[in-house]
Amino acid sequence: MQQYELIQLEEVTSTQTYLIDKDESLALQEFTTVYTNKQTLGRGQGTNKWESEKGKNISFSFLLRPTFLNPSNQYLITKIISLAIVEVLQDYGIENVKIKWPNDIYVNENKICGILVQNKIIGNELSAVYVGIGININQTKFSFALNPTSFFLEMKKEYSKEEVFQACMQRIISLYEEFKTGKLNNIDKKYLNNLLFLNQKRKYEYNGKLIEAEIKDINEYGHLVLEGRELDSKEEKPSVFVAELRELKFLF
Ligand code: BTN
Repeated sequence: MQQYELIQLEEVTSTQTYLIDKDESLALQEFTTVYTNKQTLGRGQGTNKWESEKGKNISFSFLLRPTFLNPSNQYLITKIISLAIVEVLQDYGIENVKIKWPNDIYVNENKICGILVQNKIIGNELSAVYVGIGININQTKFSFALNPTSFFLEMKKEYSKEEVFQACMQRIISLYEEFKTGKLNNIDKKYLNNLLFLNQKRKYEYNGKLIEAEIKDINEYGHLVLEGRELDSKEEKPSVFVAELRELKFLF
């Protein structure tokens, strides 16, 4: 089992903010992890909040130093982390686990895990990547989150949070080490194979307009490649276009 520095806190505003602040002042070791039972200001992507009932779920953040990676390939880290979480959930017997681009983990059309990736680039070096992960384990009622699910809701039983947390860390470290030593193959293909709604005709909001499109690929910058058309337009022929995170909204 891989060892790493673990900071366990009963309560904290956000493990992500705590980790980033600590790293600024102390220059932490790679894989240093902050784990808590309760976040009072859990952060999601952009300005979103992350809701999690005290003691029911896992919330943790850890530090990577992929200085070997060109910053233009930073999206590979997101892919590896997402794949590691998918594998852990599948090992627990959860079915229909998918990655909702770019880095949410879904079971069917419900969100079970959110991943927050923040990169620190100095010069031309990816000097730190802060990864925050929230996984719904034993929570059954949610008040804010859109279409949430949890281990309990999927499997109808309680799980040890510590065990799931350890399983995630071990899988993340092992995939990351394989990647670092050039032994992890087909990352792009594996990520694509696990992508929610790949090659399915769905409605999305794209730059405020309703479109019907199929996800076809992810480009080298981690943007989504879609083929489809605007629903209100007279143009019948679908076209291929690229969407960034802020441009595309999934409709459930
Ligand atoms: C999202 O779905 O938008 C990402 C959610 C990320 C939540 C985790 S919980 C641990 C870490 N600390 C935070 O404040 N956020 C991340």
